[in-house]
Amino acid sequence: MKPTKATLTFDKGAKSIELPVLSGTIGPDVIDIRTLANHGMLTYDPGFLATASCSSNITFIDGEKGLLYYRGYPIEQLAEHCDFPEVAYLLINGELPNAEQKKHFVETLTRHTMLHDQMSSIFRGLRRDAHPMAVMVSVVGAMAAFYPEHADVFDPRLREIAAFRLLAKMPTVTAWSYKYNAGQPFAYPQNRLNYAENFMHMMFSSPCEPYTANPVLARALDRILILHADHEQNASTSTVRVVGSSGANPFACISAGIASLWGPLHGGANEATLKMLEEIGDISRIGEYIKRAKDKTDSFRLMGFGHRVYKNMDPRAAIMRQTCHQVLDDLGLHDDPMFKLALKLEQIALEDEYFVNKRLYPNVDFYSGIVMRAMGIPNSMFTAIFALARTAGWIAQWNEMISSTEHRIARPRQLYTGQQRRDYVPVEQRP
Ligand code: CMC
Repeated sequence: MKPTKATLTFDKGAKSIELPVLSGTIGPDVIDIRTLANHGMLTYDPGFLATASCSSNITFIDGEKGLLYYRGYPIEQLAEHCDFPEVAYLLINGELPNAEQKKHFVETLTRHTMLHDQMSSIFRGLRRDAHPMAVMVSVVGAMAAFYPEHADVFDPRLREIAAFRLLAKMPTVTAWSYKYNAGQPFAYPQNRLNYAENFMHMMFSSPCEPYTANPVLARALDRILILHADHEQNASTSTVRVVGSSGANPFACISAGIASLWGPLHGGANEATLKMLEEIGDISRIGEYIKRAKDKTDSFRLMGFGHRVYKNMDPRAAIMRQTCHQVLDDLGLHDDPMFKLALKLEQIALEDEYFVNKRLYPNVDFYSGIVMRAMGIPNSMFTAIFALARTAGWIAQWNEMISSTEHRIARPRQLYTGQQRRDYVPVEQRP
């Protein structure tokens, strides 16, 4: 029998407080502390280690068992049978589309992929060597200026149009951030191609010769998009929810999500993993880096290892590992020194006592970085592609928040540890 109430007791004769315990459909119960502030008491949880910031019916993770479900469907089944637009539809609408709904969804996405022509001048206003994530933060944020009608976030039809615009234009924004960086002309979307192929066309085609995407690589990219599409209340999703909670424009919210994703402890880990592998350089130096990762006085961490929630193999990593081998086989890259190094590091870390005891497994970004490198995607684009994928989840979560009856502006509290009240001292009298 599950408890329905929790009692908070205090020492020194203070009166105890009774709090309701809420149950979800699966996963841990939560203590509803919303009335605690009425008793002059707050809870303390920096980094949200044990705080459910919202209720959500989009994504479920069991970190102990290594489970990930989107709308109840195990990620393994979705990665095997769906394409990314189908998964985006599922995340946003709650159900997989039927054939007619899928056709309409894909057609609508296909017809919104072009950017307003003036947006190309936003790219051109930035430095050529700007990091693609900096470009994406700017361009996606600037979309609010092109579609001001989306300031009305409480109109469900406008939210639906914003979702189409974002999902459809993100591949173009992402690919153009690369083209601008590479000094190549922007490639326009092609309506005859599917979502992943179209993105590859905009990344890799040039006006000089025809381009056809390798189907194994297009499928691998589609999988990367599916696996990164949502991951419940992570840092960037929580950022989107917090920014959106004030009623901000959806493009501003997604731009904030991209900024949050950029950090190396979150989406930037795939880029950081490849940088780390380049720094290690040779299998003979793995031992040295494993030693550094274990040294408490050294800030170095093994990038692509560990996860806040997964204390078992990240289920996305298991799928990406399989895709990684398919791509390396297809491209005949198994003997490439960088990939050999990555596979050796994976093996050594999986056997090392420190990593085993702390339950630090390779995460999805360890393998997705390797796959994207094999596809010829430069390191600096890895996190940008993560952002492209996560846009589906961000939209779903933003939509859920805005339409929830529990929707309120996010306003965390604090434990103040600064000075008590004191009086101003004129500058000439200060010590
Ligand atoms: N290398 C070495 N030690 C590590 C690592 C690592 N990659 N990750 C965690 N630890 C140690 C850490 O030093 C700590 O040790 P101790 O208990 O002795 O102080 C312990 O493991 C727990 O770490 P934590 O930092 O308290 O755990 P966290 O939940 O706050 O951090 C994490 C999770 C993902 C930020 C962290 O594991 C990390 O920095 N990993 C490397 C970056 C990375 O790959 N991030 C991608 C995450 S997956 C993509 C995504 O969802 O965004």
